[in-house]
Amino acid sequence: MSDRDRGAPADPNASTDPDTSADPVDVAEGRERRADDIIRRRQEERVRTAIKDELSKDDTGDERPRPEDPGPLRGALIELERVDLAFDRPILEDVSFAAFPGETLVIVGESGTGKSTTLKLILRLLQPDNGRVYVKGKDIAPLSFTEALDVRQQMGMVFQSAALFDSMTVFENVAYPLREHTDLSDDEIEARVKEKLEFVDLAPDEVIEKLPAELSGGMKKRVGIARGMANNAEIMLYDEPTSGLDPLTTGTITRLIMKLQRELNVTSIVVSHDIRSAFRMATHIALLADRTIRFFGTPEEMAASDDRYIRDFLGGF
Ligand SMILES: Nc1ncnc2c1ncn2[C@@H]1O[C@H](COP(=O)(O)OP(=O)(O)OP(=O)(O)O)[C@@H](O)[C@H]1O
Ligand SMILES: [Mg+2]
Repeated sequence: MSDRDRGAPADPNASTDPDTSADPVDVAEGRERRADDIIRRRQEERVRTAIKDELSKDDTGDERPRPEDPGPLRGALIELERVDLAFDRPILEDVSFAAFPGETLVIVGESGTGKSTTLKLILRLLQPDNGRVYVKGKDIAPLSFTEALDVRQQMGMVFQSAALFDSMTVFENVAYPLREHTDLSDDEIEARVKEKLEFVDLAPDEVIEKLPAELSGGMKKRVGIARGMANNAEIMLYDEPTSGLDPLTTGTITRLIMKLQRELNVTSIVVSHDIRSAFRMATHIALLADRTIRFFGTPEEMAASDDRYIRDFLGGF
């Protein structure tokens, strides 16, 4: 196994175990090398695929060889490594990206390019056909059902529609993950629910007894975020947190996600159509197109790109 892909070339004796408690220097090094790593891996894969194509002209077997497994990037909290996924047709091919602690990675792309699917892979609601998904340096594919639930509970999820339980009050909606997955007392749950509602700028006393149907779209999204963060997850996943909202409410939700990062150092992966809020909140942007990552980098790098597809995607922005 090579250290090159681990972002730790200076330490050839590094343990091969996933190291999620890497010191900040390692994390910074990994972060700097990540973009290069991803590009290099993809180039290597292309070369291998080209060689394989040549060889397979004489080859009757149809098994696709995977190159040597490079292992997880050191210090990354979430990583997809050369992931392929097909339903009735290929959806994701050779998708690689990583998010490091405290980053906000926004995944953008046209409708149907596989953004929600990518989040489902991170939650292990789906499994890749090839490649790996690492959470805190751990490949999540071999986990048992219970272990996978455990990993999922370390992540807060805000779904594409707010996905609140219609027959439950706001209080019960936000308390739900706490009742399901913790042994907090009733008093502790009440305190936690109120804390989270306040964090998303909702007055607890005004909303806790309301049903979702009595809330505006923006309020529902905020309750969804409060529920997603109820477990104090260090990783938050959001699927279109601002879709269908007016610009003011979009601004509020965007600021909320930024506040989580700034005040609690939460790592977020946000799927969004909304390029304006993506540019505001992202530390990094991944653009999905043609089944793969067409661009990965900072908002500044994206804005400076002269790639024709990216320019068109950004439109007048
Ligand atoms: N369970 C499934 N079975 C079959 N096809 C699926 C399934 N889930 C998603 N797809 C297909 O995979 C593709 C990607 O879907 P996905 O929901 O990830 O797109 P998306 O980028 O989130 O789109 P949008 O921006 O519209 O939400 C779509 O073509 C979709 O029809
Ligand atoms: Mg989607």
